[in-house]
Amino acid sequence: MMNTREAGNRAAVREVGLRDGLQMVRTILTPAQKIEWCRRTVAAGVREIEVTSFVPPKLIPQFGDSAEVARAALEIDGLLASALVPNLKGAQRAAEAGLRKVDFVLSASDEHNRKNVRRATAESVEDFGRIIEWRKEAASDLVVGAGIATAFGCAISGEVRADRVLGILDALLALGADEITIADTVGYANPAQVRALMRDVIERVEGRPVTCHFHDTRGLGLANVDAAAQVGVRSFDASLGGLGGCPFAPNATGNINTEDCVHLLESLGFHTGIDVRMLIELRREIEAWLPGESFAGAISRAGLPKTYDTRAAMA
Ligand code: COA
Ligand code: ZN
Repeated sequence: MMNTREAGNRAAVREVGLRDGLQMVRTILTPAQKIEWCRRTVAAGVREIEVTSFVPPKLIPQFGDSAEVARAALEIDGLLASALVPNLKGAQRAAEAGLRKVDFVLSASDEHNRKNVRRATAESVEDFGRIIEWRKEAASDLVVGAGIATAFGCAISGEVRADRVLGILDALLALGADEITIADTVGYANPAQVRALMRDVIERVEGRPVTCHFHDTRGLGLANVDAAAQVGVRSFDASLGGLGGCPFAPNATGNINTEDCVHLLESLGFHTGIDVRMLIELRREIEAWLPGESFAGAISRAGLPKTYDTRAAMA
């Protein structure tokens, strides 16, 4: 049997609760709370956190403090802090705050992209090109990741064809994307579809890092993680307590849950370096900070199985 752990088979979980999770909640957390969330997440072993979003504060008031949060996150040892940006202005604001990495996002579905960022997908591809162009002119070493949302289907327009997603991927790669995220923003993906698309994606990225971003809207989030892992994906976005959603994807609440995702990956024999128990403690605190929000997750409810540590150690 293949011993994935001894083979140094690591899998990364990037925390996106502070971005995807917080963009929908009613309570605006203080920068100090957000930084406490980051600090404790890093203490639990997470390496990368999408700490905020550089969008117009008028649009999402939760991120009115993005520069302050980004600056404070940079002080946390061992943390790679990134931020979502929808356009050049967002990338410039993120760089000004000192961030070394941004995640640009567009939607494969034109309809979703128009709702989300008020332009067609092709126009967003051009916007991405502007970020890369500006980076070159500024001689900046900012890492620019590109995410393709609604890659498995769209809540507005329905089917999103794989060849369309791959065409957008090729365009982003040709422009100079350093990393790729493939996102199921609305919870339409199923494991067979994930295996098929992610196989093609991995072939095309030629070694650049690939992350899958799943929502658990229809209960298939972790099955999709397993499917993606089977074809070679080693990085996953997840949100503490399963917070999250897209303002333009009705009822798309629920990123996959960080605690449950770590439990799954470790149980499959991957080494995440993340302590689930510390995440559960943190989650309890954050639940108290966000009254009235719905949190999800099986491990925080049922606890880790008694066999977890031995199983993980032997895997
Ligand atoms: N940060 C702060 N301000 C920004 C900005 C950014 N990233 N991008 C644009 N602005 C400002 C402009 O300077 C302009 O300001 P002004 O009115 O004072 O001149 C104003 O916003 C409008 O700019 P414009 O380029 O016309 O943007 P828009 O109104 O077409 O909106 C987006 C486009 C992309 C900025 C907006 O739709 C957006 O941020 N969407 C993201 C939504 C989101 O976060 N979804 C969830 C995550 S996937
Ligand atoms: Zn999302």
